[in-house]
Amino acid sequence: MRRIAINTGGGDAPGLNAVIRAVALSALNRGWEVIGIRRGYEGLLDADPSGLIALDRRAVRGIMHLGGTILGTTNRGDPFRYPVGGEGNKAPTDVSARIVNRFSELGIDALVALGGDGSMSIARALMQRGLPRVIGVPKTIDNDLRGTNITFGFSTAVEITTEALDRLHSTAQAHRRVMVVEVMGRHAGWIALHAGIAGGADVILIPEIPYQLESIYEKIHERYRRGSEFAIVVVSEGAKEAGKDEVYKMGKDAFKEHAVLGGIGERLARQIEAATGCESRSVVLGHLQRGGTPVGIDRLLAQRMGSAAVRFLADSDASGMVAEVAGEIVLLPLEQVVGGIRGVDPAGDTVATGRDVGISFGDEAQGTFLGKISMAPA
Ligand code: F6P
Repeated sequence: MRRIAINTGGGDAPGLNAVIRAVALSALNRGWEVIGIRRGYEGLLDADPSGLIALDRRAVRGIMHLGGTILGTTNRGDPFRYPVGGEGNKAPTDVSARIVNRFSELGIDALVALGGDGSMSIARALMQRGLPRVIGVPKTIDNDLRGTNITFGFSTAVEITTEALDRLHSTAQAHRRVMVVEVMGRHAGWIALHAGIAGGADVILIPEIPYQLESIYEKIHERYRRGSEFAIVVVSEGAKEAGKDEVYKMGKDAFKEHAVLGGIGERLARQIEAATGCESRSVVLGHLQRGGTPVGIDRLLAQRMGSAAVRFLADSDASGMVAEVAGEIVLLPLEQVVGGIRGVDPAGDTVATGRDVGISFGDEAQGTFLGKISMAPA
């Protein structure tokens, strides 16, 4: 191993820079060279050399605590469906052969690919086309990658969301309102579940547990009846009413794998207000959950994963994705982690904890909702 490359693909997550630094320092300390590729694989195709950065000690100095990624990222950079053509006229094109050639021209022995499920599938397909070795490092605030118990960035997103719920409590109480808080989580409800329990939500709605409106109304009714005349509802952007589809704000284009979810929070706020008579507001936390400095636990996890990626390159011939399993960082075959997501277990202990402390998951309508709630005069 003499020269490795590193790239970041898909949506960013707090901790990417901490991984980049850990990979670079662990490799430099072994006498290797490290090349950073800008914006996923895009930097390899740039006509000028600015798409590649030599990651020496100076380049990674002072970046560990920074959000974002010094390499930049894109979620329209799949080399098998790469946008080629003039502005407004781009067509998805397979440029994977060019990418693989560039790796061999540059004498790159291995790639450390930081990304989610899509990035791992791409890395695997590039290996099938001739890329020598890949070590994936799992990244997503959604925490929904298969194989690993946790991804870096998730804990930061949970902290940000929990703080937001604390702040929303006081204004909800002051106005005797229902606050509906829409959080990220396309197919998995990890952020809503963890932050919802940590932040004392009354209702948590996640994609893994389809909800019934009636059940949400009943919970709000119960709270008001008991004298707590406000409520906090946390909803994953990908949550679904039983028998219905997710709510989208934007369709997908030819280069982006996913349509953009959004709008479920406001829809719920309107439904809750109409049915219960309780004044309701919605808040979308959106990309606030992805931005800014990573919390300590994410900086640690990011560095453990980054340095383990280099150790696996140094000490074995294997490719795969690093993962946290039972407290240790292990290497899993890419086949084991791609092609699906890891959702919340509705029968697991975290959901049970929520239920035990009285949180509703919107799935147990008792038939007790009696219509509009009459509040005592303020
Ligand atoms: O990283 C995953 C995620 O945060 C999803 O929860 C969300 O739907 C998506 O990214 C939005 O990403 P973007 O706005 O970059 O398309």
